[in-house]
Amino acid sequence: THQWRGIIEEYRDRLPVSDTTPVVTLREGGTPLVPAQVLSERTGCEVHLKVEGANPTGSFKDRGMTMAISKAKEEGAKAVICASTGNTSASAAAYAVRAGMVSAVLVPQGKIALGKMGQALVHGAKILQVDGNFDDCLTLARALSDNYPVALVNSVNPVRIEGQKTASFEIVDMLGDAPDIHVLPVGNAGNITAYWRGYKEYAADGIAAGTPRMWGFQASGSAPIVRGEIVKEPSTIATAIRIGNPASWQYALAARDESGGTIGEVTDREILRAYRLLAAQEGVFVEPASAASVAGLLKAAEQGKVDPGQRIVCTVTGNGLKDPDWAVAGAPQPVTVPVDAATAAERLGLA
Ligand code: F0G
Repeated sequence: THQWRGIIEEYRDRLPVSDTTPVVTLREGGTPLVPAQVLSERTGCEVHLKVEGANPTGSFKDRGMTMAISKAKEEGAKAVICASTGNTSASAAAYAVRAGMVSAVLVPQGKIALGKMGQALVHGAKILQVDGNFDDCLTLARALSDNYPVALVNSVNPVRIEGQKTASFEIVDMLGDAPDIHVLPVGNAGNITAYWRGYKEYAADGIAAGTPRMWGFQASGSAPIVRGEIVKEPSTIATAIRIGNPASWQYALAARDESGGTIGEVTDREILRAYRLLAAQEGVFVEPASAASVAGLLKAAEQGKVDPGQRIVCTVTGNGLKDPDWAVAGAPQPVTVPVDAATAAERLGLA
């Protein structure tokens, strides 16, 4: 009887909904804020992980999608469309089912993780693989929503950002104040925009004493904001953030500059190292893109850019099960044993 009600009911007075908005929800949000022991030791700080992979479809996208689909339903839409590197499409497909709508998703051909493709398929989305990258998919999605009866639910839809800002509320509600630093992976830059909006809102209303510095990290092969120019052929193993022309670019710069933060880059090697550390030493299995936040924090610490004693939150944006190939790759094959305790004990190093 005391289940978390989803972000719209929990934060209704801070979201653009009315009594007549139909609430389409899977009870998203209310995700764990997990103290990170090893990261805290390595940085000399108090580090927490905001585990967004615990959302209903396994990523932070559900916070924005409950808003986008509820508003689309309120406006009478029968169909929704999005461009996606995978998580947005999984979320849109699931929430469209709840709303009784048709969903269409545009994904870059060959560049989305299998788990995400499986989600869109099983939820009954109409999927087009586009012969191009995410940026091309977004261009196409905008053209379709401009000219055909279908509502765009990408984060260029402002209500998506409104929903996603609730993660900052949860963090402040839990910690009693804003952290000193908030670290995020950056792809299309919607999420860093949303978190910054949430933190500013709570500070303006006196619920938090201040705001954190916003630290965003892009993958080196897909780092247009760091380079200051569009990346025409973005590349990274972190397919979720393989984006060369982020829609919320200017908002990300504003979040960086207004907060006194930074937007940096991490290599695929650094991402995978953080990915393995999170799983093997913190017990938190995330998808590679999510590990970009932690990779960025570790890199900054190694460069002496993290003063000890600070309170830091890293958002880990998506569940590791989305993209298990990277967990299996390079790991030793499990050995096969007969149903025999002595042999099993020997293989396990117990005997
Ligand atoms: N982490 C994950 C797991 C993501 O799926 C995304 C974006 C990001 C980080 C970056 O967030 O775009 O707000 O800066 N995924 C989008 C998608 C692009 O289509 O699922 P951002």
